[in-house]
Amino acid sequence: MNGNTENGYTELLGISIPVVELRQIIKQVAPTDVTVLITGESGSGKEVVAKEIHRLSKRYDKPFITVNCGAIPEGIIESELFGHQKGSFTGAIESRKGYFEAANGGTIFLDEIGELPLQTQVKFLRILENGEYMRVGNNKTEHVDVRVLAATNKNLEHQIAIKAFREDLYYRLRSINIYIPPLRERKEDIAVLFDYFLKQFIQRNGIDFKGISEDAMNYIINYSWPGNIRQLKNFTESLLTLYSNKKIERDDVIRQLNIQGTEIILPVPAGFGGKGQDEKQLLFRALYELKTDIMDIKQQLDNIEKQESQNIVFDGLAIPDKELELLTYDDLERHFLSYYWKKYHGDISKIARKLKLSNRTLYRKYKDYGLKNGRGEY
Ligand SMILES: Nc1ncnc2c1ncn2[C@@H]1O[C@H](COP(=O)(O)OP(=O)(O)OP(=O)(O)O)[C@@H](O)[C@H]1O
Ligand SMILES: [Mg+2]
Repeated sequence: MNGNTENGYTELLGISIPVVELRQIIKQVAPTDVTVLITGESGSGKEVVAKEIHRLSKRYDKPFITVNCGAIPEGIIESELFGHQKGSFTGAIESRKGYFEAANGGTIFLDEIGELPLQTQVKFLRILENGEYMRVGNNKTEHVDVRVLAATNKNLEHQIAIKAFREDLYYRLRSINIYIPPLRERKEDIAVLFDYFLKQFIQRNGIDFKGISEDAMNYIINYSWPGNIRQLKNFTESLLTLYSNKKIERDDVIRQLNIQGTEIILPVPAGFGGKGQDEKQLLFRALYELKTDIMDIKQQLDNIEKQESQNIVFDGLAIPDKELELLTYDDLERHFLSYYWKKYHGDISKIARKLKLSNRTLYRKYKDYGLKNGRGEY
């Protein structure tokens, strides 16, 4: 296994049973034209799976187009997907191909499908059923031959319950559902992936790696990785950047995980595929909760102290008066968004919930501020 191959695709690495089964399912569904819904937590590898399905399909030499449904403003999503006719709306100075047309003959991957507006879902269902659609501002029926893959980290059943997602579309999409388990439920993959990201980073940056202790490695394997493989990759790179002048120890790992703003430890969190609640695990959990409580108290004390010194505190983001006066409103928002990005490891849904904004609005903001390139990378 060698991860990124010369032609740029990421090999689906892993040795755990779920990943072995995943590869098998991919092999079975890839040659067909069946629509596949890929689900799993953020950073678990949904896009990697979609690309692998395309690569192993008969459409491999045709386009593979990824559309991030959550990143496109609602007002232009139909024109982006289906194209538009010149003059169909203010600003439509030329006719434009939509993503479906651009993907003709190949595969379209609709990421964050749960973000598709309801009225667009109707049109999408039609294209799924018979490949037919109409460009915005044109009544002529067009036809495409596109294989559709979709992904979401949202619970679509919940979306249906709150009338944000069409039930008929859901059943059409989930005829084949590939679920990628979170990394903490397939711990056997952690060392393989860590090793791969490590070697890749060392090679690219000419680092003279001095090794990592067994303790440190065990800590990495038993950590909960809420941001999954994306988090593991970012963590590996920052760990090597900061500590490559010596052998990496357990404390370096802990420090680095704290800097990433993540929770601490979690040796097999309760309810996540653990091997039972033995005494040791209960003890760990009690210690963990105790530590979290202490950190909460510390945070609150810090906040009080900062407020007392008349600084503005944004949930931990403190800016002294002097600096504040030099900032524009945009700078402030950028700081604010960047803070939450780190805190929630780029999990847009979580940040959106916290800030009471829609995922779509938030995506746009991150993109506008150059904090995110629209493909989930920081
Ligand atoms: N099995 C794997 N082997 C190697 N790299 C992987 C694997 N799974 C994921 N990755 C890497 O982890 C990162 C995140 O993967 P990906 O973008 O596919 O996640 P995602 O589920 O689409 O996340 P999101 O929900 O945030 O869009 C990428 O850098 C990807 O290359
Ligand atoms: Mg993705």
